[in-house]
Amino acid sequence: MDVGREKQLAAEAAAELVEDGMLVGLGTGSTVAFLLPALAARGLDLRCVSTSPATERAAGELGMRIETFAGAGAIPRLDIAIDGADQVAPDGWLVKGGGAAHTREKAVAAAADRFVVIASSDKLVERLSPPVPLELIDYGLAATLARLGDVQLRDVPRSPDGGVIADYLGDVGDPAELAARLSATVGVVEHGLFPSAMVSDVVVGRGEQVEMRRLR
Ligand code: 5RP
Repeated sequence: MDVGREKQLAAEAAAELVEDGMLVGLGTGSTVAFLLPALAARGLDLRCVSTSPATERAAGELGMRIETFAGAGAIPRLDIAIDGADQVAPDGWLVKGGGAAHTREKAVAAAADRFVVIASSDKLVERLSPPVPLELIDYGLAATLARLGDVQLRDVPRSPDGGVIADYLGDVGDPAELAARLSATVGVVEHGLFPSAMVSDVVVGRGEQVEMRRLR
């Protein structure tokens, strides 16, 4: 399996879903790295927001127009957002945040009318499993870690919003239950479980084929 090729095929197929004049959310990661040139090559008039400094840099180098998504005066909604995933369950639940960008990625996905996930076929799993990425506030960190239980701090820089990156290593079980528990834990800014209700399409590269599944 050529994972890179599968990512490229999925990304190029997703780029075709974008239409002239759209407000577009750009995810983060190696699959999105294939999306950016495919999108730029279409020469559409787009306004984009990025989910990480790395994506903002890469998109800027391709001449794409990146707007801020911060502050009360920023773009309030997006037509489409396209992003990779670490795991995609059969029902459309995702684990994201392998690149520690899950907080911004979730904010962008939630603001988009259509959230398209792009992935190589190795990202398809029968059941979601740990690690589940977390972003935590530094204040009270030791107490937050104690409340969460099976968590390991990740040796990476803080998020652009100052959050501490960690991974929940306990069983996922029912992702909705774990998502609710993590969201309810004081000190957790965001976690990497994305509900299927947030996902519009899953675009998967498999060999030289692309499988496109519309969820809503
Ligand atoms: C970054 C993410 C990425 O979308 C996820 O890790 C997949 O990455 P890649 O496309 O490199 O396989 O959630 O926070």
